[in-house]
Amino acid sequence: MKKIPWWKNEVIYQIYPQSFKDSNGDGIGDINGVISKLDYLKDLGIGGIWLSPMYVSPLKDNGYDVQDYYDINPMYGSLADMDNLIQEAKKRDIKIIMDLITNHTSTEHEWFKKAISSKDNEYQDFYIFEDKPDETRSVFGGSAWEYIPTLDKYYFHYFAVEQADLNWKNPKVREEVCKIINFWLERGVGGFRLDAIELIGKELEKGITANGPKIHDYLREISSKTFMKYEDCLSVGEGWPTPEIAIDYSKEEHEELSMMFQFETVALDWGDTPFGKLQQKNIPFKQLKDVFSKWQTKLMNDGWNTLFWENHDIPRSVSRQGNDTKYHHESALALLMILAFQKGTMFIYQGQEIGMTNAGFTKLEDYKDIDALGNYKDLVEERKLVSHDDYINGLAIGSRDNSRTPMQWDNSANAGFTTGEPWLGCTNRKEINVENQLNDENSILSFYKNIIKLRTKEYSEVLVLGDYKDHLVENENVYCYERTYKKQSIITLVNFSDKTTTVSLDKKVKKIIVSNYNDTKQDLEKLILRPYESVAYEVE
Ligand code: GLC
Ligand code: CA
Repeated sequence: MKKIPWWKNEVIYQIYPQSFKDSNGDGIGDINGVISKLDYLKDLGIGGIWLSPMYVSPLKDNGYDVQDYYDINPMYGSLADMDNLIQEAKKRDIKIIMDLITNHTSTEHEWFKKAISSKDNEYQDFYIFEDKPDETRSVFGGSAWEYIPTLDKYYFHYFAVEQADLNWKNPKVREEVCKIINFWLERGVGGFRLDAIELIGKELEKGITANGPKIHDYLREISSKTFMKYEDCLSVGEGWPTPEIAIDYSKEEHEELSMMFQFETVALDWGDTPFGKLQQKNIPFKQLKDVFSKWQTKLMNDGWNTLFWENHDIPRSVSRQGNDTKYHHESALALLMILAFQKGTMFIYQGQEIGMTNAGFTKLEDYKDIDALGNYKDLVEERKLVSHDDYINGLAIGSRDNSRTPMQWDNSANAGFTTGEPWLGCTNRKEINVENQLNDENSILSFYKNIIKLRTKEYSEVLVLGDYKDHLVENENVYCYERTYKKQSIITLVNFSDKTTTVSLDKKVKKIIVSNYNDTKQDLEKLILRPYESVAYEVE
């Protein structure tokens, strides 16, 4: 049998470096800060760290605008510090996953500077220049085309005006991307998260932005020259695929990517307006169950799933999907139990393991994100599609800054994140911190540790290889799924509501594997589940 790659089994932890741990008091997280917390992460049980970008960058989009792919932004440290981090992580059996941003570069990148330096510069073909713009709008507000008077041309930027889209049709661009990937693989990283990767095959003249016809050719080409040359290299693409499209990307024989993120579950409750993610629709839980079930079923034998609730672009799950007031603890654990025994690679985002909540900002001035500010200008000030108050209320629900507040380590002034002035406010509830939870066996953190251990050690085989089956499909509050491999069977039940409910299953319990209440019943014939009560059983 083929060896199972490490990333099918391990849990990956995302670090947003700017907000993780500051080692020198300048208010900005840094590489030495990350190194100082490696033992904490080892103890948590994770096997990989996805680092949001730390390359040299003017930071218009917090590093997702890269100026130099081969060096580290001095505010985070040096290339030598990064090498040190890779080695220190390796000592602890933790792989470093870099963020690879190649849909676009910063307009400060030397390629772009050359491109606009003279009318016929060959680097213009690295980007997308046109004589006339079309109606496409940038994700962060305003037109997606920017005029360069000296060229009398417009360049395309799907994101900020300072993030110019690369032209992947140009083989030289693809060659440069391979060079970047191999540079980091040579330094010992374990893989990449590929930012906005579904956009690289865009054919704007045909109105195609995502999943263009050439994308799989491009990915196979770079993969064969990079990822495939390294054993077990992880490549996870960011995109918004359907299960069918995710299979195209991640089917092993295709030799493209290891897996794609699926955002369908986290975006299910977004509104249908231009500021949809700042609105929250009331989604019946049954609908969410169906989406999970669809992904588990369709990607059972082909492709590979990802499991996540949070990242640096979406709000805190306990605030958005859960109940961060009365059932903060229970609903944080219920959210984890929804994913805990599903098939796929689980990603957790810094602070999720202690149940960090949304930022609680109330003023526009509190926000730093280009998405929040750019769209304010566009939607509120210029096009007047949204009122100021609605927009501010919306940011509190859906802004990306909600998950970017500093990591809360302890009870001290800035939650132990920095001795200086943090770059983004620390208004998240301060009692939610690592120190408070570390020695409490009933804490959210301890529960995460336990689940990670169960997933990666004791039940690894059934979780990686086992089948998936739904139970209680019509139940509106309880998600119930079974994983089976050979003679082993695990049933998970999650009451995702604030009401007590009774269910019945025709199964014989061998033992309780884990529960978020300490006195959950063993009897599945008549099982009473209290608010957010979530339990996994081994059954016969
Ligand atoms: C991805 C990143 C996001 C960034 C965007 C542009 O969606 O996750 O943070 O703003 O790409 O690079
Ligand atoms: Ca610092």
